Formats: sequence, structure tokens, C-alpha cells
Amino acid sequence: MALDLTGKVALITGAASGIGRETARLFAQQGAAVVAADRNLPQAQETAAEIRTAGRSALAHQVEITDEAQVAAMVQRTVKELGGIDILVAAAAVPFADYGTGKGSRYLLVEQPLEDWRRVMSINLDGTFLTDRHAARAMIDANRGGRIINIASGAAIVASIRGGAYSASKAGVWMLTKTLALELARHGITVNAIAPGFIETPMTEHIRQHEPLAKSVVESIPLRRFGKPFDIAATALFLASEEGSYYTGQLMHPNGGVLIP
Ligand SMILES: NC(=O)c1ccc[n+]([C@@H]2O[C@H](COP(=O)([O-])OP(=O)(O)OC[C@H]3O[C@@H](n4cnc5c(N)ncnc54)[C@H](O)[C@@H]3O)[C@@H](O)[C@H]2O)c1
Repeated sequence: MALDLTGKVALITGAASGIGRETARLFAQQGAAVVAADRNLPQAQETAAEIRTAGRSALAHQVEITDEAQVAAMVQRTVKELGGIDILVAAAAVPFADYGTGKGSRYLLVEQPLEDWRRVMSINLDGTFLTDRHAARAMIDANRGGRIINIASGAAIVASIRGGAYSASKAGVWMLTKTLALELARHGITVNAIAPGFIETPMTEHIRQHEPLAKSVVESIPLRRFGKPFDIAATALFLASEEGSYYTGQLMHPNGGVLIP
């Protein structure tokens, strides 16, 4: 069956919102048992409840991905309760240091406080590293292969003013992806990244709410629209499915053509 995930277990971080939530929904619809993990437990619980209401399997788990012990516990729980991890989608990240408030500043690099830079790196790069390696260890132990899909960004390869920490963190995620792809291939584990363009999630709300800015962004996108979370979830589904099994170490670009050189 096309893009079928029946019998697979998928651990998804950032599943309380946006791309991670849509990926959890789509993977469950395609037959996977899903762990919807996020630091925002009430919203992760909403994701899981919605999936269960649709007759599919999901549980919610609270995790702060900068804390290695919490990441290890998330993986251990998934293995214990669902029997293993076949697919990891690492989508949790922040556009700037928000210290859990949802608000923060986009600094010029010459002005950015070191603590703020470190916070972005700690969540986006260290957090993805920790999530990937704990899931990979479980996959290696189970000896049945696996799929790791990191949500990077177009910002991994294109710089922007006041986006330096985010871009550097996502460039790091892209290199992490390539290195893990080389290191894990012998275990039958593929590792790929996705570089979304401008997607309609809370992360781009500040752009979409500002009409002149939204207009100029849409005009910069050849397909003339923001992406939907589904556009990214569908790419992740392909990479997670049997159909995507020959891809590893790749960066996929669902972005409406925004980075065509
Ligand atoms: N929306 C876009 O246009 C866009 C573009 C390129 C890349 N991305 C990437 O896509 C991914 C998903 O973003 P989104 O747009 O869905 O954003 P979102 O803000 O809707 O979702 C991000 C989720 O990550 C969670 N999270 C953040 N820090 C965490 C932490 N330390 N521990 C655990 N959970 C944490 C948040 O609680 C939130 O639920 C991110 O990696 C983002 O960088 C998004």
C-alpha cells in the first residue's frame, strides 16, 4: 500500500504544534503508533487525543529536549510501551531564544547576548543531537533499521539579517544529519533532513500578521503561497515510508521554489 506505516512506531518531537503536530496526525492516519512529544504537555495531549478520537494510536509525552536525561526517558518510555522506535521526526525548535515564553528578540550577531545565542543552539542543535542519538541507540539495539528525519530549515543554507543563531543552528542540524547518515547506514538506519520554506505555523505568525511583510514574502515564493504543515508532513511521510528507503543524507526542500538559485 502506498506510503503505509502500519505496524511502525513513530516518535515525533515538537508534536504539540505546527509541523510536528501535522506529522503526528498524518503518520497515525497512515497506520503508525505515535508518541507526540513536546515541552508543552497540554498541547501534546491535544494532538494525541485528536489522533485517538480518529481511532488511531497515540500517546503524549512531555520532554525538554535540552535535557539529556529527559530525552533518554522519552526514548525508554517509547520502547517500553510501544516495543521500539522505527521512525524519529525531530521537529522541536525555536526561531529565537524565548525561555519558554513564546516571545524573544531577533538580534544582529554583533549585539546578541551570548546567553541568547547559546539558548538557540542548545535547543535547535544540541536538542536535535540528543534526540537523534538516543533514538539511534534504541534502533541499533533493536537491530531492525530505522528512519531519522530532522526538520532543519532553508535557513540552514541561506543567511538572513537577525537570523544568525537560527541559521547557524539549522546548518548544524544539516551537518549532523549527513554525519549520522554515514555513521548509521551500516545499521540500516537512514537519516535525512527537511528544509521547509515559509510554512503556516505559529513560527511564521509574526510575518503573516504583518500584511506588507506577508505580501513581500509571498511575492518571493515562485508558487505564490505559504506552505501548509501538510506539505512538510507529506515529505516526512515519504522519507519514513518504504518508498523513501533509498534516501539517506539528503536535504529535502518543500518550499514552493523559494530557494531556486
Ligand atoms: N514554520 C516555518 O516556516 C518553518 C520553516 C523552516 C523550518 N521550520 C522548522 O520546523 C520545525 C517545526 O516548527 P513549527 O513551524 O511547527 O513551529 P511551532 O512553534 O509551531 O512548533 C515547534 C514546537 O517545538 C516545541 N519545542 C520548542 N522548544 C522545545 C524544547 N526545548 N523541548 C521540547 N519541545 C520544544 C514547541 O513547544 C512547539 O510545540 C522547527 O524545527 C522549525 O525550525 C519551520
